Amino acid sequence: MSLPHAAAPQPGAATAQRIEQGRIKAENQGCFECHGPQGQGSLQASEVIVAKLAGQSFDYLQAQVRSFRSGLRRNDYMTVIANTLDDADIRDLAAYFASQAPMHGDGNAPAPSASLAAAKQLAWQGDPARGLPACASCHGEQGAGPAGKPAPRLAGQDLRYLQKQLLDWRSGQRQDTGPVLMAPVARFLSDAEIDALAVLYAQSH
Ligand code: HEC
Ligand code: HEC
Repeated sequence: MSLPHAAAPQPGAATAQRIEQGRIKAENQGCFECHGPQGQGSLQASEVIVAKLAGQSFDYLQAQVRSFRSGLRRNDYMTVIANTLDDADIRDLAAYFASQAPMHGDGNAPAPSASLAAAKQLAWQGDPARGLPACASCHGEQGAGPAGKPAPRLAGQDLRYLQKQLLDWRSGQRQDTGPVLMAPVARFLSDAEIDALAVLYAQSH
């Protein structure tokens, strides 16, 4: 049944049609080869440290691809790929991956080099002595973002990818695409804390 007075879709909304367009584009653009057909990552690319995209925030996904395209965020693979995409492609691709069942851990992450208890303390309470806010204050209670939170989902994300992002932020290789929120946090993290936080979130659901 057609609704003659139905509101036109919001320019940025993830409609069913855009999700389907995104699936077709993702297949044609080769996104599945590295990110997996449902955005759960891909074993074939195991030498490359790839992000899971499944169930990630729609707005966050778009912002990241635009950031690769503008050169603010740098990666040998993604820079080349992002330069082939226009804004409508980016919106449709983000709609597709955001609509997938949320990323989840594989259940066999290696034991952390620092204690998980310390990581949980940082994640939920932060460390006032170092001016470190709790990760949960932006990423959500279990790192499940993004409902009402400004930051991406971390729960169930790839372990090595989480580690690499925190190291990249600490070294200045990666920068915030919006308000500067992550850089001041990563600056204070030790290698051991980065390892333990990556394990904590990779194992979360
Ligand atoms: C050759 C492998 C490869 C292909 C193909 C590929 N990507 Fe990526 N993608 C990567 C890697 C590697 C990263 C992690 C970059 C980093 O470490 O910062 C990434 C990161 C991303 C991110 C950031 C995720 C986050 O959590 O911040 C998005 C979004 C993304 N890719 C979307 C896409 C889309 C959409 C396509 C298809 C148009 C695509 N990628 C194709 C390898 C690939
Ligand atoms: C003040 C808010 C805030 C706090 C606190 C915060 N983050 Fe973030 N985080 C963000 C935002 C915003 C982004 C996305 C930045 C961008 O690229 O635009 C982000 C991105 C990330 C990413 C990259 C995810 C991806 O898919 O690439 C990781 C990993 C991360 N944060 C881990 C942490 C950890 C671990 C903590 C606690 C030690 C933490 N964050 C605390 C706001 C925050």
